[in-house]
Amino acid sequence: MSDIDIISQYREQFVTHLEGRIQLGEPKNLYEPVQYILGLGGKRLRPILTLMTAEVFGGKAKEAMDAALAVEMFHNFSLVHDDIMDDAPLRRGKTTVHEKWDISTGILSGDAMLILSYQFFESYPGDMYVELTKLYSKTAIEVCEGQQYDVDFETRDDVTIPEYLKMIEYKTSVLVAAAMKMGAIVAKASQKDAEAIYEFGRNLGIAFQLQDDYLDAFGDPKTFGKQVGGDIMENKKTYLYLKSLENASKDDQDGLLHLYSIKPEDSTAKVEAVKTIFKESGAVEETKKAIQDFTQKAFDALAETGLHEKNKALLQQFGEGLMERTV
Ligand code: IPE
Ligand code: IPE
Ligand code: MG
Ligand code: MG
Ligand code: MG
Repeated sequence: MSDIDIISQYREQFVTHLEGRIQLGEPKNLYEPVQYILGLGGKRLRPILTLMTAEVFGGKAKEAMDAALAVEMFHNFSLVHDDIMDDAPLRRGKTTVHEKWDISTGILSGDAMLILSYQFFESYPGDMYVELTKLYSKTAIEVCEGQQYDVDFETRDDVTIPEYLKMIEYKTSVLVAAAMKMGAIVAKASQKDAEAIYEFGRNLGIAFQLQDDYLDAFGDPKTFGKQVGGDIMENKKTYLYLKSLENASKDDQDGLLHLYSIKPEDSTAKVEAVKTIFKESGAVEETKKAIQDFTQKAFDALAETGLHEKNKALLQQFGEGLMERTV
């Protein structure tokens, strides 16, 4: 079986588990948005990583299912609240929860998802339960910190690249890392392996968010599933923006600073002007390079594990696939 088939199989097994485990009733206005967002699919990247990690370390995907479900539920909770914070109209090609219902519904359904996600750990025995939930709580609070930095940066004009990298590490990559470490915990992998796989996930997660930022500006609206240009409209301080400020001509620097101090009603001209600066400053190339660099760092961490070569190759294949994604 090819690596791609293996990954698809994990996705299918996971979705079957999700559908069997999640039966939500009344009140409808609390639970329908939960069903809605989970039903919109998505790549299921994090749960696949949990299952795959459990198996490469000698555990069973079946035993890692509830941890995988917790992570996917948390991820979906974070998206519902993130879309409110980012004023986003589209998610996975469909209307966002807070636009389809309203903001209050998005807040409360998101809260419910966060609580539900914790409950999935209850199926694990004492010691493992403690280890999993400790990692989970630490991760969840870091995601909140990252999200706050992201919003704080919208109105700052002195954000540095190290600050940006810390922000994306927290808002995105620690969850990818924790998803993998949970697989290692369920498989009772050694401490050293669990830490190395966390490092793999952390670097892969940083590359993943850099790619997300790139796609947000340059993705194909037909396939991306989110509003292209949304980060520019919201004045998000992405790598593209920060590198442009560093490298652009003085005129373009001034232009960019101005464009990122306004929020015009019709943002078409702003988005186009910013994208032109991103391209002409060389920031696009630098972003692509950074994606490759962090992916390489992930592979270096993978080399530190005691995994069998064929399993390293499987995880490496997964990482390379992410670099080429368009969604
Ligand atoms: C979106 O995550 C949020 C980020 C951290 C960039 P994904 O790109 O994994 O979203 P889905 O689950 O596949 O829709
Ligand atoms: C997502 O960052 C981080 C979390 C959801 C925690 P983004 O705001 O870039 O994610 P998308 O692009 O809306 O999916
Ligand atoms: Mg967003
Ligand atoms: Mg956001
Ligand atoms: Mg994004």
